[in-house]
Amino acid sequence: MNRSEFIRLTSLGVLGTGFLSSDLFAFTNFSGKDFGSDFKWGVATAAFQNEGGWLEDGKGISIWDSFSLKKGTIKDNTNAQVSCDFYHRYKEDIQIAKKLNLKVFRFSVSWSRILPVGTGHVNKEGINFYNRVINECINNNIEPWITCYHWDLPQALEDKGGWTNREIVKWFGDYCEVLALNFGDRVKHWMVLNEPLAFTGVGYMWGIHAPGKRGFKNFYPAIHHAALAQAEGGRTLKKFISDSKIGTTFSCSPIHAKNSSIKHIQAAKRLDALFNRLFIEPAAGMGYPVDDLPALKRLKPYILPGDDEMLKFNFDFIGIQNYFRVVARSLKVFPMVHAYQIPPKKRNVPTTNMNTEIFPFGMYEMLRQFNQYGFNEIYVTENGTPGNDLLINGEVDDQHRINYLNAYLENVLKAKNEGIPVKGYFVWTFMDNFEWAEGYKPRMGLVYVDFETQQRIIKKSGYWFANFIK
Ligand code: GAL
Repeated sequence: MNRSEFIRLTSLGVLGTGFLSSDLFAFTNFSGKDFGSDFKWGVATAAFQNEGGWLEDGKGISIWDSFSLKKGTIKDNTNAQVSCDFYHRYKEDIQIAKKLNLKVFRFSVSWSRILPVGTGHVNKEGINFYNRVINECINNNIEPWITCYHWDLPQALEDKGGWTNREIVKWFGDYCEVLALNFGDRVKHWMVLNEPLAFTGVGYMWGIHAPGKRGFKNFYPAIHHAALAQAEGGRTLKKFISDSKIGTTFSCSPIHAKNSSIKHIQAAKRLDALFNRLFIEPAAGMGYPVDDLPALKRLKPYILPGDDEMLKFNFDFIGIQNYFRVVARSLKVFPMVHAYQIPPKKRNVPTTNMNTEIFPFGMYEMLRQFNQYGFNEIYVTENGTPGNDLLINGEVDDQHRINYLNAYLENVLKAKNEGIPVKGYFVWTFMDNFEWAEGYKPRMGLVYVDFETQQRIIKKSGYWFANFIK
């Protein structure tokens, strides 16, 4: 698609228009059936957050293994060496997935479990583990969907610069080839990257996530190399598994301006370019959204002749992952975007226990916005909410999560009914797990995990979801 032919419809509304927070939980009566019998219902998980088994059977160290061992990186001083021990308990867990009527189990592969130092030697034990998981899913009539990269880069590659080193495009392509050759006979849905903006921004610009690097000198090259790897991974998977559907996932948030003043609307535009357009537009052949975010000119030194072509890949589907909305105001001193996100606390809106706004209508806005790129299929590959969920008398009453999911799903249905090709919805997440720098406090699962005993207890929301999609 050519940028000049593309008339963008963005979510750039103005705060206070279009949606009243009192409508938040105004449910209509609907259920999974209204989405059609071929709609894919699932859950999403990630290797580092769930598996544990951090040094088991030849696995190499990842950047998250080392980062989480550094003092002060994880809020509750925990790590994911065991987490919910999916590495040993996958059988029991897949039985729970079956009990919840799930059709799709989205999980990621740990790169360093397959290639302990990122390239070269393939760890057979790692391959065997994922074969067991894949086969167990299939034997239970659950489709395994694989994310190739959900943030746990092998440390050995980080030692060579990680995402700031252009070589990573080749390393990543080779890794995808190993995945395709070993699992492609049974896995037909692939997601190349999980949220490239998150791991480049939070990991290489702000240093809050692994590898803990900071600054533009890391951020800009990481952006370009991740965008190249996104397409390269797609090409590689397609080459080796021609009958597969290849997708990738994007974090996204509707960006609303504080009010209708031009300067705030322009600030919202810049944030929209960064948060919602940065990685999808180069894949769609439109290049980076430099016009609306001039700071992206700083990508130039990293772009080599021929890269415009290499950034493109015709994905069979895209995954969008929306949790909250952003309200922007202009702020000159803030680097790159010259915009500030007004925290939900200052706006008197409903929030989660991670201080993010609950804004279900945003899901509809995002589906509309991302549909403009013309991809044939869209999946909501993540959506969900954290809570201080408590186990009381053997039960977890997380009504807040039922309310949240119901309200967001209502907006998915609205988009679907308007003809947007949204084909599936995966809850983040299956069971409580290691929530990156937040540690274990924000419980986000449909299933409660007692991390002392590793006991699993299906929450009220789990039963509700199972019934909703039945
Ligand atoms: C996403 C991420 C997931 C999970 C989720 C909940 O950005 O892909 O791994 O952590 O947020 O916060």
